[in-house]
Amino acid sequence: MATMTNLSLDTRGSPDPEVDSISIEKWVEDAINAAPNKQRMRRQLDAVASEAALIRFLHRFVLFNDALAARVPFVAGLIHLTPNVFLDPSEGVDFCRQANGRVAAYVAEAASDEYHLDAEGSGVHQHLSQRFLNGVLTFHRVDRAAFDRDHPLPPVLDRILDEARAKFLDERTAPAIFRALGFHVGLEFFAHQEFNLVDAWLRARFPALVEALEQERGSRSEYIWLALHTVVEIGHYRAGIEALKSALRFYRHPEEKPAMADLIKEGFNAFVDLQSRYYDAILCDPVS
Ligand SMILES: [Fe+2]
Ligand SMILES: [Fe+2]
Repeated sequence: MATMTNLSLDTRGSPDPEVDSISIEKWVEDAINAAPNKQRMRRQLDAVASEAALIRFLHRFVLFNDALAARVPFVAGLIHLTPNVFLDPSEGVDFCRQANGRVAAYVAEAASDEYHLDAEGSGVHQHLSQRFLNGVLTFHRVDRAAFDRDHPLPPVLDRILDEARAKFLDERTAPAIFRALGFHVGLEFFAHQEFNLVDAWLRARFPALVEALEQERGSRSEYIWLALHTVVEIGHYRAGIEALKSALRFYRHPEEKPAMADLIKEGFNAFVDLQSRYYDAILCDPVS
């Protein structure tokens, strides 16, 4: 374990921690601007030409976001369950030097939104997304009992969902955590972009559906899941950027920070690739 003295010596030979933080944030912003995902998703939305394709798209959109949401508390847990990776040299007692809880907190903030309970009842995002999907099926008079038989998921999408649930989560090591953090920041930003695109598209192309879903049912409308995610994801992304900064700041081997920053980039790029593959294939099977 690095001592306070070692950490001070190591820092002299490596980039300033603040510079690391600024450069990783700048890298993420540039990578977002360069990513083709927005244009590719717009193309897929433009290709939805029938009610059957709309239902299929929205079902798969819900499944993708549920798989990604499920990994968020896992990433927070992975960080907190892995001691001796993030250390605060200002504290002397071994336990008191552990900074993994502070790094995990920036991810847990997004996770706590995911499982929101309040006096009005369940605000659990999975539950809200189920109400959204049921609302879509009701509006279009789709037989729910036959839905899964009539709308099987193509194997390619099933495989990508499995990948989304598991990517970078199978090891409790520093490299796995940095990759998982890069992937996490990617999913939070691109979820923000994705929900805003889908919301604007639905409002423009299917206003009667949106109007029906926006009716109050109980304490919440069926559209609330989609509406909520047009605003909350950007906060999750900003918290994710803080997670990156604090992970680099507290990483126990300062001389390895550039290598860890590269792993963050690898994880981020893996999300850009995964989201592209999912939406490229989202309507790959012929609509009858
Ligand atoms: Fe969510
Ligand atoms: Fe989120």
